[in-house]
Amino acid sequence: MLLEARHVSKFYPGVKALTSVDFSIDAGEVVAVVGENGAGKSTLMKILAGAIEPNEGELYLDGNSVEFDGPLDAQRRGICTIYQELMIVPELSVVENVFLGHLKKKGIFLDWNAMRKEAKGILSRLGSAPSLDAKAGELSVAEQQLIEIAKSMSRKSRLLIMDEPTASLSKDEVANLFDLVRSLKAEGIAVILITHHLHEIFEICDRLVVLRDGNYVGASDIKQIDEAGLVEMMLGRTVDNYVDSRRHMVKSDELVLKARGLTRAPYINNVDLTLHRGEVLGIAGLMGSGRTELMRAIYGADKLDRGSIEINGSAAYLSSPRKALDQGLGLAPEDRKTQGLVLSMPIAHNATMPSLLEYVGPFGLNLGKETAAAKDLCEKLYVKYASLSQPAGNLSGGNQQKVVLAKLLGAGTDIYLLDEPTRGIDIGAKEAIFDLIWDLTAKGNSVIIISSVIEELIRVCDRIVCLHLGRVTNTYERGNYDLNRIMLNAMGKSEAGAIQ
Ligand SMILES: Nc1ncnc2c1ncn2[C@@H]1O[C@H](COP(=O)(O)OP(=O)(O)OP(=O)(O)O)[C@@H](O)[C@H]1O
Ligand SMILES: [Mg+2]
Repeated sequence: MLLEARHVSKFYPGVKALTSVDFSIDAGEVVAVVGENGAGKSTLMKILAGAIEPNEGELYLDGNSVEFDGPLDAQRRGICTIYQELMIVPELSVVENVFLGHLKKKGIFLDWNAMRKEAKGILSRLGSAPSLDAKAGELSVAEQQLIEIAKSMSRKSRLLIMDEPTASLSKDEVANLFDLVRSLKAEGIAVILITHHLHEIFEICDRLVVLRDGNYVGASDIKQIDEAGLVEMMLGRTVDNYVDSRRHMVKSDELVLKARGLTRAPYINNVDLTLHRGEVLGIAGLMGSGRTELMRAIYGADKLDRGSIEINGSAAYLSSPRKALDQGLGLAPEDRKTQGLVLSMPIAHNATMPSLLEYVGPFGLNLGKETAAAKDLCEKLYVKYASLSQPAGNLSGGNQQKVVLAKLLGAGTDIYLLDEPTRGIDIGAKEAIFDLIWDLTAKGNSVIIISSVIEELIRVCDRIVCLHLGRVTNTYERGNYDLNRIMLNAMGKSEAGAIQ
């Protein structure tokens, strides 16, 4: 056995993140660790990678008992991790980020030529070509994720731990990553994969291990289980209609938003968009398609070069998010770490932030009222927490994402702009989010949603707009959905394969 954990437990005040969990992985094995948001997956990974110390239990490396003296010690012994929350240094360039902590030297000098060559090689194998000198902080979340992957590929590792590496990658990028995983496996390198996209597990893994509420539920050879069986192990119940559509169309003819000629070079180019009351509009586009920039432009977070926006029939000048909020527009951004949440503040304040003024009385903030509102919002979204006064940063990744949405719900806007709302969300909670979107539209609100997973858009949307290199390539109405055509259009191709 390459690495083994026996009876490991990790306790935080009020939370049993892991209770006596066993785990093992052999050289050349690809193992999935699966479970709902907050099940303890990232906690187990951090223990295996020496980033946190377990309260109970032991680790064995090559059969010998081992205690890692921090993550660097584990790295030196060949255990590399891509953490769920990206560790990119925004001020540094792409190549500097890739080699951060293990710069290559030639004699006493840094060997930038060698580093550039290697970084370029790995990034192009991943099918990504951001400029090596670009500032990492200016790249999209998906591009940053590719840098994280390149970073760990550039180290000589025996075990590579990947905590949701595919959460914001497109299908092609995932395929490239999995090709790399296959070649690592052939070299005898072990890989642990965490993902909420269950089909990925069946594509690449040999074995899976299931956690629920910090407990070990079981393990299975991949050939001996199917998706339904896995969902039952994860949730402890069957979800037989989880691919079923429950949507009743409530879209009306009334336009709530009309955008004309939106242009912000070089990201979006002459985009027309309409949104009706009660409608769920999807935007299908790959990384670099301008989907996030389009949302931000509508929201007034970025200045437009050209174009006009009408809200409820009158011209809107959305020069700032504050003005957008006044006009009834709310945005749940893609990058929760820098834009969505204040991680050091309690969950309750985060959830009620946009509506905080409502809870201010003559004697200051009415904490009771605020907590009740926050509790209600968090329950609607199945946020798993020990106490609402915990900092939001203590929540698991998926639960942080739910608080971003809770925050937006609490703001009580009319038009919801959701940028990748299901990123990192488990299968059960995803259903809750879809239900919530349909609830909102049934109440006369309207929603624009971005997702990298086109199947998800097909399920939840009334209309889908395909975006490629900042231009709308096609629009589909529910009833005419065709997964392949939507995907091709999002890649800038027509059905015949020609670039439009
Ligand atoms: N630093 C911390 N302080 C307090 N509680 C924590 C801390 N880190 C994690 N937890 C709690 O431990 C539990 C397990 O969290 P973990 O991050 O391991 O979940 P996960 O399975 O990775 O979920 P996700 O799919 O959402 O990423 C959660 O209830 C979380 O709130
Ligand atoms: Mg996690």
